[in-house]
Amino acid sequence: MEQQKKGQWGNQFGFLMAAVGSAVGLGNLWAFPYKMGKNGGFAFLFIYIIIVVFVGIIITITELSIGRKTGKGVVGAYKALGKKYAPIGWFGVISPFLIMSFYMMLGGYTLKYMIANLGDIFNASWGYQGAGMETAEYFQAFFSNQLETVIYTAVFVLLTAAIVRGGVSEGIEKFSKIAMPALFFMLVAVIIRSVTLPGASEGLKFVFQPNFEVFKGSGWVNVFAAAGGQAFFSLSLGMGIMVTYGSYLKKEEDLKLNSIVIPVADTIIAVMAGMAIMPAVFAGGLEPAAGPGLLFVTLQTVFSSMGAGGPLFGFVMYFLVFIAAITSSISLLETVVSVVVDLKLEKAKTFNKKKITFWCTAAILAEAIFVSLDGLGSHGFPQIFGQSTWLDSMDLVSEGVLMPLSALLTAIICGWLLPDFVTEEVELNGKFTWKKFYMFCIRFIVPPVMLLVLLGQLDSFFKLGIFG
Ligand code: PHE
Repeated sequence: MEQQKKGQWGNQFGFLMAAVGSAVGLGNLWAFPYKMGKNGGFAFLFIYIIIVVFVGIIITITELSIGRKTGKGVVGAYKALGKKYAPIGWFGVISPFLIMSFYMMLGGYTLKYMIANLGDIFNASWGYQGAGMETAEYFQAFFSNQLETVIYTAVFVLLTAAIVRGGVSEGIEKFSKIAMPALFFMLVAVIIRSVTLPGASEGLKFVFQPNFEVFKGSGWVNVFAAAGGQAFFSLSLGMGIMVTYGSYLKKEEDLKLNSIVIPVADTIIAVMAGMAIMPAVFAGGLEPAAGPGLLFVTLQTVFSSMGAGGPLFGFVMYFLVFIAAITSSISLLETVVSVVVDLKLEKAKTFNKKKITFWCTAAILAEAIFVSLDGLGSHGFPQIFGQSTWLDSMDLVSEGVLMPLSALLTAIICGWLLPDFVTEEVELNGKFTWKKFYMFCIRFIVPPVMLLVLLGQLDSFFKLGIFG
């Protein structure tokens, strides 16, 4: 019996939209603008771009090549590199699995605010939130309401699953091809509105004004660690996603080009997010922030103060954030599903994707409900690893440890132990014009940077005070 095929991207544009969709997520919208503003504006952007070029593009092409060469999900792919590398493959299942536990919940939050703003547009009784929706109390009341968060989280999980179960080209690609351009145009619309608000220029100054002071003394190490940590999370690296998406690429696709387009597009969207969000924050006379507080309290305050147009603007903004989140969450789910598909194929040569998606979704739903019940630590549940919310504990294991570790080990394997593995695959599409540059970076630049990122992550989770 011939083995059942796993699926393939229909065309390059579709693949790119899916991959950029994975990269563009909450990290771009709620972390990048603030980090950039706090770490030296243009000076930070400059370092960030250097990291994207010397590390981001390099790991992207490495992961895409590993995926396409082996045609396997992340566990099978690392096993194909060598039996002893299989544990790294398992990191690549554990990380997305843990990340989904809170990413789905946050996706649910975006749905909540989307619907609340929509309700306000129509002043509709089913959704009318009216005055007070912008307050920290409203947000607190929402995330500590276990029933409500569980419902929104579950809806977000099911929407993600519905897309993944459709298959690679019929589900993920089809959805991303529409959703990502829509996100882009909505972002442009929000930027136009945001920068024309009175007082907006302060926000642009916050994000962009170069401040080279941050490099003084040992300060540059902090900037590097911050930029490095942001870059690899934002590019969805070190967790099997690009391996998985790469495994669905046709042999004639040019890996060189694709691995440049994805990081560049992700960076452009991150900078655009800074232009959309911070001017509105400053125009509203508010303090910049990061994380959920920025997205759900600060921004909502801006919308609520805008009068009649506010809810519409708010709806568009949260819709955009929702798209950014769901195109990322489908890549996380697909990575896990793809590994189970491989296991099935090994045994039976056939698989039923819908059934596999169903069972993976059930497991993810369970853990996402679990994290939702914690209500960002508001119910006094016991916490682990010295963190204050279950979200942070899940994030610590994945983003804090496994992801940088996996990127570090991958670089050592592909740079030093199996130096031809990636280059051979890239050369299937013609000369690897920047092969020397690639080899140099994967050997000498990526490992120390990933080590720095790993230390930086541990520092920020455990407040060790190594970095400022
Ligand atoms: N890259 C996404 C972001 O910027 C997050 C993400 C990380 C998504 C890892 C999938 C995997 O938010």
